Amino acid sequence: MRNPKILVLDRNTALAEQVQGIADELRPRPEVSVCERVGSVGDVLTDEGPFDVLIAGPSLGTRAGLARLQIIHDELPGMAIVLAFSRRPDASLRDIVRSGSIDLLQLPVDDGELVESVERAVELARKLEKPVATAQAPAAAPLPAMAGGPGRVFTISSATGGCGKTFYATNLAYFLSRHTQLRACIVDLDLQFGEVSTALRLRPRYTIFDALQREDTDEADLQAHIEEYLVTHETGIHVLAAPKEPSEADRINPPDVTRIVEALRNRFDFVIVDTPPALTEIVLAAFDLSDLLYVMATLDLPSVRNMGVFLSTLERLRIPTENIRLVLNKAESDVGIDIDQVTKLFPQGFESVLPYAKEVSRSINLGMPVMAASPNAQISKRMAAAMSTLLPEELRVGVDDGAIDDRPGLFGRLFRRAPAAT
Ligand SMILES: Nc1ncnc2c1ncn2[C@@H]1O[C@H](COP(=O)(O)OP(=O)(O)O)[C@@H](O)[C@H]1O
Ligand SMILES: [Mg+2]
Repeated sequence: MRNPKILVLDRNTALAEQVQGIADELRPRPEVSVCERVGSVGDVLTDEGPFDVLIAGPSLGTRAGLARLQIIHDELPGMAIVLAFSRRPDASLRDIVRSGSIDLLQLPVDDGELVESVERAVELARKLEKPVATAQAPAAAPLPAMAGGPGRVFTISSATGGCGKTFYATNLAYFLSRHTQLRACIVDLDLQFGEVSTALRLRPRYTIFDALQREDTDEADLQAHIEEYLVTHETGIHVLAAPKEPSEADRINPPDVTRIVEALRNRFDFVIVDTPPALTEIVLAAFDLSDLLYVMATLDLPSVRNMGVFLSTLERLRIPTENIRLVLNKAESDVGIDIDQVTKLFPQGFESVLPYAKEVSRSINLGMPVMAASPNAQISKRMAAAMSTLLPEELRVGVDDGAIDDRPGLFGRLFRRAPAAT
């Protein structure tokens, strides 16, 4: 593989010097070029390119600068753009999203964060050249035709932390298993800081790491034994927990994730994947096998802005947009940012806008999904309304008013697998 090429574009050379300073820490070491004259960037791109990554400095953070980036992005969609700014860019979220930036760096940035951002940009640029993500992307069977075939995979993601991914994952698993009488499993791919078992007050004996330690390499065998590594919650949700040690997490790679998700979806009707707040290779591996991707944000500017960046990256990786669902969480009316304003920025619309609710903390303390602990809370009803679109028509009836038909086996006949409880 040739060494990646990075172009730093800014009137001031400080950022370029910092990038040159960290180049030695990257493998393979990138070639770093500098362009101080924004007006001549076209020539530099043509004469010295192709570049894998363009790092645009604060002087590009204006409307005009972003418009220029948008043109560059349209011309060279395979180049990953990172936007570094020192103040809040004097431009709208929409302009930033349109510039195609895959990451935003707030200056001053420390070397560690810069290294991480550049590594990720190089990695994405490599993927953009040959979009792996689409090559294996499943043809999304229209929901809710659930009968037959492997289980459905739903991945919950976000660009920023604390958006409620784990909260949503546990509730989605609970909702689906409760209303279909089918089996649901959550896999915690937030490998370093996974909190699914904490949120459900579970004490897993084994984790995803242990499942991968099995001697056999045979997929059928992994599938036959994967359930031995799960822990079951009192609501019937199954969980494959995140590793206990960060060092174990480091040893899990994207092909491992593919194996695990494959094995689980052959055993369960629903596999819910919880993820770390980033678009890592691990997360992309889960995306490749997912029927639906949930992307979450909270109602604050950094979270919403990064959701835009996240979505434009997915678009550039050519992940089919019809499989993406947006969720805005902790939406309060008096936080100085208007829900309508935000929803307008995302023309695809939000599948749900969920309020901040104290019932959530209460349910976490009980180790229960809020939909189980407080089914009548507004937040539970909002979620149920949105999630019921995943159910076959005949099961939707009665979801909203809480009148749940509990007869086991009644719906099991409709589906390939037998219900867990019978
Ligand atoms: N709608 C909500 N109202 C109140 N608290 C919430 C809500 N959604 C999530 N939380 C809380 O916010 C914190 C972060 O949520 P979590 O699901 O852990 O986020 P993530 O997994 O995206 O990092 C948790 O303590 C969770 O209980
Ligand atoms: Mg989490």
